[in-house]
Amino acid sequence: MLDLEKYGVTMWEEDKILSFRQKLLAWYDKNKRDLPWRRSKNPYHIWVSEIMLQQTRVDTVIPYYERFLDWFPTVESLANAPEERLLKAWEGLGYYSRVRNMQTAAQQIINEFEGKFPSTYEGISSLKGIGPYTAGAISSIAFNLPQPAVDGNVMRVLARLFEVNHDIGNPSNRKIFQAMMEVLIDPDRPGDFNQALMDLGSDIEAPVNPRPEESPVKEFSAAYQHGTMDRYPIKAPKKKPIPIYLKALVVQNSQGQFLLEKNESEKLLAGFWHFPLIEVDEFSDQTQDLDLFSQVAEPILELGPSPQESFEQDYDLKVEWQDLRFEEVKHIFSHRKWHIQIIAGRVAETQEYTDREVLWLSPEEFSNYPLAKPQQKIWQAYLKRSH
Ligand code: ADE
Repeated sequence: MLDLEKYGVTMWEEDKILSFRQKLLAWYDKNKRDLPWRRSKNPYHIWVSEIMLQQTRVDTVIPYYERFLDWFPTVESLANAPEERLLKAWEGLGYYSRVRNMQTAAQQIINEFEGKFPSTYEGISSLKGIGPYTAGAISSIAFNLPQPAVDGNVMRVLARLFEVNHDIGNPSNRKIFQAMMEVLIDPDRPGDFNQALMDLGSDIEAPVNPRPEESPVKEFSAAYQHGTMDRYPIKAPKKKPIPIYLKALVVQNSQGQFLLEKNESEKLLAGFWHFPLIEVDEFSDQTQDLDLFSQVAEPILELGPSPQESFEQDYDLKVEWQDLRFEEVKHIFSHRKWHIQIIAGRVAETQEYTDREVLWLSPEEFSNYPLAKPQQKIWQAYLKRSH
């Protein structure tokens, strides 16, 4: 067991722990949010909700959650889902490796656990993509096991309760909060205890505009009592994402269909369909003008081919580029920020490709293919300008 004193944390006496549990759970019983996954004890349902909730807010998750269970009602149906459908179910949530891992884990449940969801912390942790947080959440909520589920919300609440002087953004400090939770967690209602802290952390104890006066456990909170709420949790500022500059080539044929290609790489957004993207060094007004008027501008050899030329070569097409301007599309991935400028064009004649998956799709057909968020934004920006 981790020595909390070594980390400057003095754990409460037993009496205080008991009354904290009581206060917190009584508040939860009265105020808990009515969420679809809280009406279920099915570990598969809890798992789906927890993975989705790691990516986005509760309000956004609800429709995704309901549709996912509609499409894949059982572990077995997830294990056997076609890739396209799987990505479509996750479209817009981001971090697609998570849903791929879920499918692998579903296959593990079928093959290694005879199709029955594992019911121990170790068994749950052995599934692909399930880390300590998710294993703790499923164990406690679906199986009533006294396992902590330490996420950012829980760390923030604990940091304020105990004035923890360790950066909650540093993964190696998670063990401090895990050890605190192992002592604090209510052994009779571990799932409710974990979720009560999550609810508290996402509303009353939110990162911005918290309302500490309303906290049901304010008399337990060292930071509240000492007037140091604004200092906790300790969190070092995040590094800025690296900017990446891209040109998106939105090319239409004479039937009003658009060229989309499947991303066959193993990298970011593998398996998704996209308008071709060409990375450039940077945008400047100058390069923008050159791009737009490349047919008339003097070619400057050092610059290499323009994105339009690269595209025409790469796809073996003759394109009539349109002199249109679109608003810049921006999209942030965890460590990268994409800046995308759209270039629109038309072709009279199309090509067949044997070495890659390229399709000419009408906008009505887009919904049958997974398009990642930046591609959806490109399409929206394109529509805005061309109407
Ligand atoms: N965030 C992550 N898991 C949650 C849960 N079970 N309830 C509410 N918010 C959450």
